[in-house]
Amino acid sequence: MKPEILMVGPIMPACMAALGHQYTVHQLWQAPEANAFLKKIGSQVRAIVTNGVLGAGGSLINALPNLEIIVSYGVGVDAIDLLLAKKRGIPVTTTPDVLTEDVADMALALLLVTSRRIVAGDQYVRSGQWAGGEMALTRRVSGKAIGIFGLGRVGRALARRAEAMNMKISYTNRQDLGVPYAFYPALTKLAADVDFLVITAAGGDSSRKAVNRAVLEALGSEGILINVARGSIVDEEALVQTLREGKLGGAGLDVFASEPNVPEELRAMPNVVLQPHHASGTIETRLAMGDLVIRNLEAHFAGQPLLTPFTY
Ligand code: 8YV
Repeated sequence: MKPEILMVGPIMPACMAALGHQYTVHQLWQAPEANAFLKKIGSQVRAIVTNGVLGAGGSLINALPNLEIIVSYGVGVDAIDLLLAKKRGIPVTTTPDVLTEDVADMALALLLVTSRRIVAGDQYVRSGQWAGGEMALTRRVSGKAIGIFGLGRVGRALARRAEAMNMKISYTNRQDLGVPYAFYPALTKLAADVDFLVITAAGGDSSRKAVNRAVLEALGSEGILINVARGSIVDEEALVQTLREGKLGGAGLDVFASEPNVPEELRAMPNVVLQPHHASGTIETRLAMGDLVIRNLEAHFAGQPLLTPFTY
């Protein structure tokens, strides 16, 4: 008998096919009525395969009385009810490290594209405006001051890239990490002292709306906000307002408060560059993430140590 697993969302087709060989796979996102579906198959499910955005909330975990493990195709655990998982002794695995470089690449790309107005420049050429004269000048990135909110794996990978661009690097974090970058205990003070503020912090209650109006105003009318972490970390309403009022210079965003919904006003702003939560979205990284999902499940069902357990 193959173990039964519940997939909350899809992963790479090749990885889905591999899972199909080893397990009886139930696809929650395909069910016309989730609750009825869970009632029907819930007691057979031994593992959840989810992702960073969909996670596994309390009601899903509670619908699975024989759940043994939660395996996430992603690194963020803010959408997983960790307290409940812990209470029930259910281990959680994530996909750290394999996505770090791609997410840092996306942060740097958004920084360059937003500050140098590359999307607008592309439009300028395509639309034929170039024949009418030179495009408006943009703002330099190299040598400027970058503030990193959350100096974890991604934050550090971004800092290494910023070093190569001679940037002045500062950060805020739960604690001073004793690294050769300036540590700021207060986010607002950090925002006031930098040209670019990049969010690479974990989501969840501790960071919810931490980037509020005061932080955005401190970043200022020439400052740029980049977010490759979680939309929940930014007060999105305040972001739209400060951009509208010219109190913030621009934003490069890969994540949003209520994905895939992006405020209409944000979509119309020329000083904003948007991405569809795609920082880890390369074929190479998604295959590596899928491979970790497969191998963590295999380890669990073979009674072996998990490869990348999340420590809660
Ligand atoms: C993924 C993420 O886009 O790792 C995370 O927490 O949010 C992203 O890497 C997502 O998990 C894949 O759907």
